[in-house]
Amino acid sequence: MTPDPALQTRARGAASRPEPKPGILDIEPYKPGKASAEGVAHPVKLSSNENILGSSPKAKAAYLEAAASLHIYPDSRANRLRAAVAEHFKLEPERLVFGDGTDEVLHLLNQVFLEPGDNIVMGQYGFSAYDIGARACQAEVRVAPEPGYRISVEEMLKAVDGRTRLVFVTQPGNPTGAFLTGAELSALHAGLPPDVVLVVDGAYAEFATDPSFDDGIELARSSANVVVTRTFSKIYGLAALRVGWAYCPAHIADAIDRIRAPFNTSTAAQAAAIAALGDEDFFRRSIAHVETWRPWLAQQLGGLGLEVLPSAANFVLVKFPGAPGKTAADGEALLARRGLLVRGVANYGLPDCLRITIGLEEHNRALVDALAELIRG
Ligand SMILES: Cc1ncc(COP(=O)(O)O)c(C=O)c1O
Repeated sequence: MTPDPALQTRARGAASRPEPKPGILDIEPYKPGKASAEGVAHPVKLSSNENILGSSPKAKAAYLEAAASLHIYPDSRANRLRAAVAEHFKLEPERLVFGDGTDEVLHLLNQVFLEPGDNIVMGQYGFSAYDIGARACQAEVRVAPEPGYRISVEEMLKAVDGRTRLVFVTQPGNPTGAFLTGAELSALHAGLPPDVVLVVDGAYAEFATDPSFDDGIELARSSANVVVTRTFSKIYGLAALRVGWAYCPAHIADAIDRIRAPFNTSTAAQAAAIAALGDEDFFRRSIAHVETWRPWLAQQLGGLGLEVLPSAANFVLVKFPGAPGKTAADGEALLARRGLLVRGVANYGLPDCLRITIGLEEHNRALVDALAELIRG
């Protein structure tokens, strides 16, 4: 048999071990929120914007019930969950895609659209998963400045070029908590070429109760190039189970379905998500909690002279003075010693800020007391 010349050429210049494709090792791995603190047995996690009230008791019961069918593959199309989400949000079921958290759905969108040399556009403080997913497809990431910590429609549109395939907006933003008004979202969409997909990531949309907030669903309903993503990880308190979904134009849902792993949401996750959707009481309590304590935290921390950015999510972004002993890193370390884990966001280009999930009353009070000592001490 004649040896394959391509194989011979490769063998000559080959490395001594299989190397990942170009660009992969330049990717900064995703940094999850801290979950432990030295010397503290049970720290309070205010570092990942989970639901501080836990999860719906109905969802827990459904999860336990799913133990009876662990030997059976999950429903690949999540038909019951699909029907429940479609009914709850008044959406066409065939336009929904479910994933192993929104994270997977975002990766799938990148895989469907990006070829090497293409690019995505995201805001300066956009969620790092967009960047990782695009680079994994050997695409470029074009970052639009966010003056005043808010996405600027003008800057986003300026960053779009002939190779842009996807534009990502977090609505409201993580870690900023800021949002685009409905008018701004429509202006962004109107300024995009029709072959560019606008992705509106609404991981925290339920916490945005301002009347000028727009979750993008109506825009998506009538557009061939808008995708809205949502998650069960935040308000529904199911972060451990990993369920996210996207409302897509039908042709995009069809494309994603062709490449996703067939059993990407587990039976237990589907069952718990359906039950969580049906627990109106837990949902309302979760919103009410954030609506009570978000302004309280902003007012108290503002009273200490810290700058608290307006937030429409279940966290606040707090800016620290640079003075020695009073930096964001000092604040993070002191809070960790008190058993309160918050998120340093230097990796988002915000080294002087901390992102703090709204906690229970006792957490919020302990946090304010600790930071008062830091700032006044
Ligand atoms: C803006 C944003 N999008 C998506 C996600 C991922 O959510 P999921 O848990 O559904 O993967 C997060 C989680 O922190 C997030 O903050």
